[in-house]
Amino acid sequence: MNVLIIGSGGREHTFAWKLIQSSKINKLFVAPGNAGTEAIAVNLNIDISDFQAVKNAVLSHGIHMVVVGPEAPLVEGIHDFFLEDETLKTIPVIGPQKEAATLEGSKEFAKEFMNRHNIPTAKYQAFTSETLGEGKHFLEKMTAPYVLKADGLAAGKGVLILQDVEEAKRELEAMLLNSKFGNASKTVVIEEFLEGIELSCFVITDGKHYKILPYAKDYKRIGEGDKGLNTGGMGAVSPVPFVDEVFHRKIEEQIVQPTIEGLKKDGISYKGFIFIGLIKVGDQPKVIEYNVRMGDPETEVVLPRVKNDLLEVFKALANTELDTVDLKIDQRTAVTVMLVSGGYPEGYEKGMEIRGLEDVRNATAFHAGTLRKNGKTLTNGGRVISLTAFGNTMQEALSIAYDTAGQISFEGKYFRKDIGFDL
Ligand code: AMP
Ligand code: GLY
Repeated sequence: MNVLIIGSGGREHTFAWKLIQSSKINKLFVAPGNAGTEAIAVNLNIDISDFQAVKNAVLSHGIHMVVVGPEAPLVEGIHDFFLEDETLKTIPVIGPQKEAATLEGSKEFAKEFMNRHNIPTAKYQAFTSETLGEGKHFLEKMTAPYVLKADGLAAGKGVLILQDVEEAKRELEAMLLNSKFGNASKTVVIEEFLEGIELSCFVITDGKHYKILPYAKDYKRIGEGDKGLNTGGMGAVSPVPFVDEVFHRKIEEQIVQPTIEGLKKDGISYKGFIFIGLIKVGDQPKVIEYNVRMGDPETEVVLPRVKNDLLEVFKALANTELDTVDLKIDQRTAVTVMLVSGGYPEGYEKGMEIRGLEDVRNATAFHAGTLRKNGKTLTNGGRVISLTAFGNTMQEALSIAYDTAGQISFEGKYFRKDIGFDL
C-alpha cells in the first residue's frame, strides 16, 4: 500500500517510523514532513490546508490511505472533502470528519456533548459579547482560580487561569470584545477549576469498536517543576504509574464508553484517534478536553510501545473491524525528552545546524522542527528533536534519553531535566 501522512512534527515522524516497519507498505509519503521523515519516506512539499493540492498528490502518487496528524485539516473538513469527491471517496482517511472534529474545534460543543452523555467534567457556562455582563456576574459568584477558555482553536494558547477576579473580568472582556484570540474567542467557556494530576488517554475507534492505547503523561510548561509558559509539550512518559486497574476501569466505564456511545447516539461518525485530556481529582477521572488526533509528544512514547503492525490496525479501523485487532503492548517504560530552540515558546531562531544525530544508538530521535538543506540537518521550529528511550524503570529510560540529549548539539538547545519528576 502507498500511504500519505499529513503533518510535519514529531508525531508524524513517529507515525512514519512505525508505518515503515510494516511489510505491507510499498511507498510512504509525508506532507510536508521534516528532515526525519525525509530520511525514511518521500516528503511532499504541499500546503496541507489546500485540499485540492492534497487531492492532486494522492492521485498522482497512487495513494491508498491518508493518515492525518494535526487537528487543523480535520476541523477544516479534509475527511469530508475525500468522501464528497468521486475519485477520492474510497480512499480511507484516518481521522474524523468535520462534525466529530468539533469536539476539539469548539470547547462549548465538547462541553455540551459531555453534559448530554453524563461524562464527568468541570462545571461550566459559555458566554458571547452579548452576554458579557452575565459572564462577569458568573465570575463574581465563583471562587479563584478562574478558568477562561476560548471556544475555538487557538494554537494551544486559548486557556487562561487567573487568580484575581478583576483580572478575570478584564480578560473575559478582551477575549469577547477585543478578539484576544481572534475568532476563537467569540465564545468563551468559563469553568470550575479542577485540582489534580493530569494524564492523557488515547483511544482509537472505527465508530463502532474502540481500543484504548497506552496512557501517557506530558509536560507542557517550558520550565522545570512545570513552571513558566505553556508549550506544545516538553516531554512525556508512558505508562502512567498512578493509573492502576481500578482507575483504568473508571476511565473506561465513565469516560471512554460513554464517549463512543454518545457519538453513536448523536449520529456522529468517527474514524480515528480520540485524545482525552484527563485530570485525576481525588480518585475520580474528569475530562479537561477532547482532541481529535494523537498528542505530541505523547505519540513519541505511545506508538513505540504498541507492538502491532500499525498499518494492519489502520486497515481494520477503515473496515470497521477494530474488534479483530488484539493490541500487544510493550510493558517497559518509554520516555521522551524534547530538545527545543532557545527562546521557545516565544521568539527563537531557525536554521541552526544540528550535530550528533548520526551517533544516536540506544534512543530514537524523532524529528519535530527540522529541515535538511545542503547536506545538513537544521533547526526549523521551536520544538526540534524528541528523544525516546525505553527502560525497565522510568529512571533507566530517562538516563538513556538524557545521555543522548547531551550528545546532540545545536546553538540555543534547551530541554527540561525533570521529565517524570512528579511520578
Ligand atoms: P486545554 O487547552 O483545554 O488543554 O487547557 C490547557 C491546560 O489548562 C490544561 O492542560 C490544564 O493544565 C489547564 N486546565 C484546563 N482546564 C482546567 C480546569 N478546569 N481546571 C484546572 N486546570 C485546567
Ligand atoms: N501534548 C499535548 C497535545 O498534543 O495537545
